[in-house]
This record gives sequence, structure tokens and C-alpha cells, in this order.
Amino acid sequence: MIHMPGILLDREEWERYEKMNNEDTRMIIDCDTGIDDALAILYALRAPGVSVEAITTGFGNIDVQQAAENTLRLLALARPEREIPVAVGASQALVREPGIYSPHVHGMNGIGGVLLPPSAQQPVSESSAELIVRLANEAPGELVLVTLGRLTNLALALELDPALPGKLKKVSVMGGTVYNPGNVTPVAEANIWGDPEAADRVFSAGFPLLMVGLDVTLKTLITEQHIELLKRLGKPDNLPVIKFMEQTLGHYFKFYREANYVLNGAPLHDPLALMAALQPDLVTTRRMKVRVEQKGEFTAGMVVADLRPQPKVGEYIEVAVDVDAQRAVGAFLSVFM
Ligand code: BDR
Ligand code: CA
Repeated sequence: MIHMPGILLDREEWERYEKMNNEDTRMIIDCDTGIDDALAILYALRAPGVSVEAITTGFGNIDVQQAAENTLRLLALARPEREIPVAVGASQALVREPGIYSPHVHGMNGIGGVLLPPSAQQPVSESSAELIVRLANEAPGELVLVTLGRLTNLALALELDPALPGKLKKVSVMGGTVYNPGNVTPVAEANIWGDPEAADRVFSAGFPLLMVGLDVTLKTLITEQHIELLKRLGKPDNLPVIKFMEQTLGHYFKFYREANYVLNGAPLHDPLALMAALQPDLVTTRRMKVRVEQKGEFTAGMVVADLRPQPKVGEYIEVAVDVDAQRAVGAFLSVFM
């Protein structure tokens, strides 16, 4: 057991965690590679038993070309055993005007201004939606899809293949909030707000879907102390990615301090959605019928959950309502140590 202020890491917990992941999980990550997307990707690349089959990118934190570029550079830094295809996807929402990006949250280049060396790898020629559909059809029922950005690519994939919901093993979505306030408007979370029409189509389509939103991600904080711990105890092979995490999180910590009064820490939004896909007991879930508000002047992008005893509005999805945050953060750190 390692004790530091605010940190309790239990080696037995890590070993249990590693055992739980021994059954191979084949995963597609759909993302808008900003700071926490990058942490989620690095986690997936290091997590035991996880095979990342593809990374599909879309607009969101930054434009889609930058999201793909960040992904390729991150892969070059992390050096996975085999090349992971990277696709370029949606450059704007389904029906809304091209969006506003988030340089104040993620920096001008999406990864906190950190300059990673270029990669020799090129994106594949298929779009993100095409790649998701092809891989799901090649291995029906086997792939876990984790979405960390707008749901535009998945909505486009659904248009290409309306039977897609029955071909994915699980879809874990970072997005939305039910009980918490929003983070871009009083009621909307960024990934849902950025393309509410896409989110509503995806939530209504019958995917085996878990929504991992602000209700749980805001409780799951990575802090400067955690990074210090990683710098001291990280495997030597992981020191380049740990150095990247320290640099990119510097920007994120500053944003969360100034905008949200979080002291020297930031939520693991995207990593938690990915970890919950691998280890469901990190979160407590509740089955809810939901729709996504698309019209309201002040409420567009709100996830409207019908919590009445006899719900009538929307389709059922699983929603993460609580998290074992300490265990989640410990699980995150453990793969780099
Ligand atoms: C989500 O929005 C983006 O800023 C993050 O990458 C995360 O996916 C949190 O609301
Ligand atoms: Ca994201």
C-alpha cells in the first residue's frame, strides 16, 4: 500500500484489476483528441488485455484534422506493438453550423500546447463512420466502442448501417449529465451540446449503451500529486508518456483552477468512460429513458431523463450515477507503473 496525501493505492487492487482485464477486449476509440482524450488513449494502450483496433477522430475540442494529427503523434510517442489505424471523421455537426472549438480548455492545438514530434503514419482513407461500420461487420458482437467526443461519427455510422446497434458488444459514451449542472451551458455537457441531434439519434437507436457523464467524471480527479507519484514510480519505458501527461495536464489544471475552482487537479472525463467499459463495477448505473433536447434556447444539448415512476419519454440506456473514484484513479495510474 502506498500512502501519500490524498492518495491510497493498493497493489492487490491493481492485481485484481489486471486479472479482470485478462479476457481480451477489442476496442475502437472515437475521440476529438484533446487533453483527457489523450490520457484515455494512453490508458487503453497500456491496459492489460486491451487491443485497440482503431482510433476514429472527429471535430470537437479542436478541428478534426488536428484531432487526427494529435492522435498520430500520440501513438508515435506511446509506440504500441502494432500500427493502429487512425481515421478522420466528421468536421461538423449533423445539422448545426460548424462549431466553436475549446482552446481555452485544451489549448490551441488541443493538447495543452505540447509539441509532440510528427509521426510517419498517415490516416486511413476510410472515414471514421466507414471504419466503425466495417470493423463491426467483420466481428459482429465482439467490439467495444468508446466515444469521447461528439456523437457525430457514430450517428453517421448508424446511417450507413442501421443494424449497427446489434453488432457492437458495448458502447461507452463520455457525455451528458443528469443530476449535475452542465459544463458548457447550465444544463449541457460539451460532447452532447456539440451535436445534440447526433446524440439523440444514438441514444434512441438501441445500442447497448452506457452514458458516463459529469455525474461521475467530476468526482474522478487526477491531481498534481498523482503525477508526482507517476514520475517517481512509473516504469522507465513509460517516462516519455508520463512527461507528456505532466506537460499537457499543466494546461488542464490551470483551466480547472480558473474556471471551476478545482485546486491542482482535473476530472478524468474521457479515461473514466474508457475504464468503465473495461471494468463496469467502477461505476454504479441506473437504467433510464432519455432524450436529448435539440430546440431550447437555453437547454439545447441537455440530456432529459424521464425519472418518473412510469417513464414514457425516450429509450432506455444505462447511466453512470456514482463512481468509486479512488479506485478509478488508482486503476488509471496503475497501468503506467
Ligand atoms: C468532454 O468535453 C471535452 O472537453 C473533453 O475531452 C471531454 O470529452 C467533457 O465534457
Ligand atoms: Ca473528448
